Amino acid sequence: MAALLKARKAVGLCVAGCRSISALAELPEIHQILRQTCRDYADRELTPIAARLDKEHTYPSKQIGELGAMGLMAVEVPEEWGGAGMDYLAYSLAMEEISRGCASTGVVVSVNNSLYLGPILKFGSDAQKEQWITPFTTGEKVGCFGLSEPGNGSDAGAASTMAVQDGDEWVLNGTKAWITNSWEASAAVVFATTDKKLKHKGISAFLVPMPHPGVSLGKKEDKLGIRASSTANIIMEDCRIPLGNMLGPRGAGFKIAMQTLDSGRIGIASQAVGIAQASLDCAADYALKRTAFGAAIGKLQAIQFKLADMALAVESARLLTWKASLLKDSHKPYSKEAAMAKLAASEAATFCAHQAIQVLGGMGYVSDMPAERHYRDARITEIYEGTSEIQRLVIAGQILKEYQR
Ligand code: CAA
Repeated sequence: MAALLKARKAVGLCVAGCRSISALAELPEIHQILRQTCRDYADRELTPIAARLDKEHTYPSKQIGELGAMGLMAVEVPEEWGGAGMDYLAYSLAMEEISRGCASTGVVVSVNNSLYLGPILKFGSDAQKEQWITPFTTGEKVGCFGLSEPGNGSDAGAASTMAVQDGDEWVLNGTKAWITNSWEASAAVVFATTDKKLKHKGISAFLVPMPHPGVSLGKKEDKLGIRASSTANIIMEDCRIPLGNMLGPRGAGFKIAMQTLDSGRIGIASQAVGIAQASLDCAADYALKRTAFGAAIGKLQAIQFKLADMALAVESARLLTWKASLLKDSHKPYSKEAAMAKLAASEAATFCAHQAIQVLGGMGYVSDMPAERHYRDARITEIYEGTSEIQRLVIAGQILKEYQR
């Protein structure tokens, strides 16, 4: 990443240089370099081991350390706090390439960047940034995000985890569910109710160290896909943290969570584009090599139509994802575009992985080839950080607001 930062300066492109729609046609040079660097890394270090990590449920600690050294565990974090100081388009490109190699590694990177570091960068004090951001930029420590609960997922405002002030401490009680990175995390951004009467306006955000007295982990979930990342409950029983561990103002937790998810959805959209692209790569490669009826199956229109539809889905989703990133980088509203990107990209990933298996036939159904893993990995992108149904609600809500003006 040091080389990339140097390249950025040499090229004379500041981050603002890419905040234009022309980036959708041709990426600025620094982003092209970043993309190629991430692609080379993924081809060399992730693609060859992704099947084994998935099969053995192994957390990619060596690779996360290497990605940290490249600046990719804290892409948007300014250099003064230990990050790469790049923009969200850069993050999106990195997420796509990493996920193209290994979607499990992709989600570990995404949660640390967008869901853990993102809200601290935006809402934290300087002292909080020093304590809770800098040590999480190298890959040595990762963070997680505790919003969902066993009794609330899509209805994020119905959080029942309580935070009660006792002297100079907050005492947290409750269970957070489906927490990605929970088993490896050294800290969590946790949402808890400080005033139940106020409903979503009574939710606040907290910084909880892990491990910590009063914090325990549930069993690692045995998942369909992204099996090299951990997912578990975080259980808080009289978990005491200093008053200074509140993130942002009291009662601002729901808005912090929503804004964090807006940007998180761009990361998941990028992950989904990576899975969709990997599925297309696998299908196109097979179509060139496999012969049937006396020629490569890629000569058959039935296969060509599938490849064309897959390429269209990948490219459309990628452009929506880049657009959402560019809007965020330009400090313009992007909730609707992030939801559109995640919806389109996750459906593209599921579609392309499905079609890849169809192109490969029996070979697509066995684990000798990556198509079945892409199919399993793709499915979660339609669920986490807001289901496709929630994305449609967000998009429709924004459209109705626009028409009311
Ligand atoms: N930015 C800022 N504020 C926002 C906002 C946004 N994107 N969205 C809503 N708000 C504000 C509203 O303006 C409103 O403010 P006021 O109270 O001041 O009027 C307030 O929040 C409540 O808004 P709504 O009435 O729209 O809220 P709602 O209760 O109807 O819920 C929802 C809206 C979109 C359904 C929301 O609950 C949601 O996004 N749910 C999905 C949750 C989710 O994505 N969970 C994923 C868990 S994390 C995960 O998956 C991580 C992982 O492991 C990878």
